[in-house]
Amino acid sequence: KGGKILVLPGDHIGPEVVAEALKVLDIVEEATGARFERDFDLCGGASLDKHGDSVTEAVLTRCQQVDAVFFGSAGGPEWGHSQPNPESGLLRIRDRMQIFANLRPCFFASQSLVDRSPIKPGIIKGVNFTIIRENCGGAYFGKKIEESDYGCDPWAYERSEIERVARVAGAVAMQQEPPMPVWSVDKANVLANSRVWRRIVHEVFEKEFPKVKLQDQLADSLAMLFITKPTAFNGIIVTDNTFGDILSDESGGLTGSLGLLPSASLAGPPAARGQQPGLGRNNAGGVTGLYEPVHGSAPDISGKGLANPVAQVLSLAMMLRYSFNMHHEAEMIEEAVKKVLDSKADGGLEVRTGDLGGKAGTREMSEAIQAEVRRL
Ligand code: NAI
Ligand code: MG
Repeated sequence: KGGKILVLPGDHIGPEVVAEALKVLDIVEEATGARFERDFDLCGGASLDKHGDSVTEAVLTRCQQVDAVFFGSAGGPEWGHSQPNPESGLLRIRDRMQIFANLRPCFFASQSLVDRSPIKPGIIKGVNFTIIRENCGGAYFGKKIEESDYGCDPWAYERSEIERVARVAGAVAMQQEPPMPVWSVDKANVLANSRVWRRIVHEVFEKEFPKVKLQDQLADSLAMLFITKPTAFNGIIVTDNTFGDILSDESGGLTGSLGLLPSASLAGPPAARGQQPGLGRNNAGGVTGLYEPVHGSAPDISGKGLANPVAQVLSLAMMLRYSFNMHHEAEMIEEAVKKVLDSKADGGLEVRTGDLGGKAGTREMSEAIQAEVRRL
């Protein structure tokens, strides 16, 4: 059990929260006997300072050799005028690893999350969906035309690009028993590429995931329903690059704190129950992926021990689930985080960082999570 990971802590709070998340990985190793070989390297501003580039060829090559990349966050005002910019390192890693499926969970398992949300508790309580965004195609790629009076971004998808992201959605849905429902989100009423998207997603599900309930959903109406009736989408939402970008940011807004949201970017479908993963499979029997919090490097609070480590810790749980098939351990970590978010320590103080309205620091929050993980 276990495997090889490349750790790229990045800049500012990146290294602070990555160090705490890796302590949770130490506990998993002790408890299970699994071993994770960890290589550390630079990306973003730290790499610019040392090598004059946001990521080196050596690091890009290493990303392709390991079972998973554990990423912090990159960037900061001190590299504001650097060429290339520090954030470009991550884009180049995405491209090299071909991690085309970006998973962003949105969940309100814990009461303190419900309390933080800008949406009414009665509406938000019990929300638990994951958006899977196609991340290597569509309107953000292809030949762009930029003239003084005309601009054009071709919003195009090939069959193979649609099939592979549909397979990720099906496989993720199949990780639960009974399988989670899936919504395919598009604008098939007005866009030709959406009609092709819809037809091919249905073909894949009929053939390969007949047990999964697949429904179609228009993107604009989903944007509204996320605010008015988000629990109606508990399950998996699969969509293209543009809609996924917008809808995943909207779902982030529902939670009311950036410090809590993890993400995974996968190079293929994870193993469904009783199956082996196909495309993008790694040596550990899982799927190659990159795991990082949704938030950035938070230069405004870095170096002060104030950052919330939860998003990074939950990204670690996603890594164990998808890249190492360690479902039980992933659930234990998620459970521990939930307990800490809902707990009151001795003396009646909640262990919460500033972004959650508390007074705890990174270390305290992390130690509380570690203690809970040990207990489970
Ligand atoms: P940000 O997410 O770093 O910060 C936005 C606000 O949220 C700040 O007030 C920050 O203090 C707070 N925040 C973020 N994470 C937090 C945490 N874990 N605990 C407590 N508070 C937290 O976004 P911003 O300020 O727009 O970007 C800062 C830098 O990060 C920029 O250089 C940006 O390009 C980069 N960035 C990098 C990303 C990546 O590496 N994937 C993603 C987003 C931004
Ligand atoms: Mg965005």
